[in-house]
Amino acid sequence: MKLIVLGAAAGGGFPQWNCNCTQCAGVRAGRPGLRRRTQSSVIVGDGADWVLVNASPDILQQIQATPALQPARQLRDTGIRGVLLVDGQIDHTTGLFMLRERGSPLPLWCTDPVHDDLSQGNPILRVLGHFCGVDRHTVTPDGAPFEVPGVAGLRVRALPLWSKPAPFSPHREHNVVGDNVGYLFENTANGRTLFYAPGLAEIDPTVWEVMNTANVVMVDGTFWTDDEMIRLGISSKRGSEIGHLPQSGAGGMLEWLSKLPASTRKLLIHINNTNPILDEHSPERAACTAAGVEVSHDGLEIDL
Ligand code: MLT
Ligand code: MN
Ligand code: ZN
Repeated sequence: MKLIVLGAAAGGGFPQWNCNCTQCAGVRAGRPGLRRRTQSSVIVGDGADWVLVNASPDILQQIQATPALQPARQLRDTGIRGVLLVDGQIDHTTGLFMLRERGSPLPLWCTDPVHDDLSQGNPILRVLGHFCGVDRHTVTPDGAPFEVPGVAGLRVRALPLWSKPAPFSPHREHNVVGDNVGYLFENTANGRTLFYAPGLAEIDPTVWEVMNTANVVMVDGTFWTDDEMIRLGISSKRGSEIGHLPQSGAGGMLEWLSKLPASTRKLLIHINNTNPILDEHSPERAACTAAGVEVSHDGLEIDL
């Protein structure tokens, strides 16, 4: 069983199309220590059968970069046996449109609030009804195990997270349970687990307990500092206001991760183009390395 990172960047990708910050300009210019990243998505599975976790706007490019997703068993084929969503945000759902050429309804796992947002504020699922359609499965964020048919040996549990629903959600400013979830993936053959939570504003006791039991944690790496985008003059929003816990400072992600067992593999994902950890030569990246925390990149494979 494996997890493959299809896209390690946050919404906008790296470089972001309209951004000329030093990092976006640097990666465009080929500056050493910077590498391109597409938008937030991973696959979990083995061999020919995978679950896609989030469908990013870059999905066609990501599939082309990942030969395992095209097993070519028949004239029209895919290794994607189902799609799981962590939320209804644009960077995690826009790629659903790109899967419309399927010959059968797309097996899709999401919570009720996400299903509502994707049927109303941004009615992707209604639009898909005019193409392949969706075979929807309800995710209940209660930690109860479920399986994705076709992906053998994988057990999944969903946990409620405190982050933010998309801006078009009626509960953007007053979250409800199920707006955001994290997934615990278990390889049933050996019991090893990976906790995946690309958007996370708060680590509550339930999440912390799960993080402590997981062999691998792959969590929100959006911002280094809470006021990162304000300091750069590109937004008036703090990271915490849009649902992301920064890595640095007291109570930051690095402090939390340092309290996990030494044997836990720790990775950051969903990294915004403004985050200095993207620069392999930055002091912020050195701080991650010193803390035993890896910075995910596209194509990274993790054995479970
Ligand atoms: C987020 O993670 O905060 C959102 O995906 C931002 C966005 O819409 O790109
Ligand atoms: Mn995002
Ligand atoms: Zn930028």
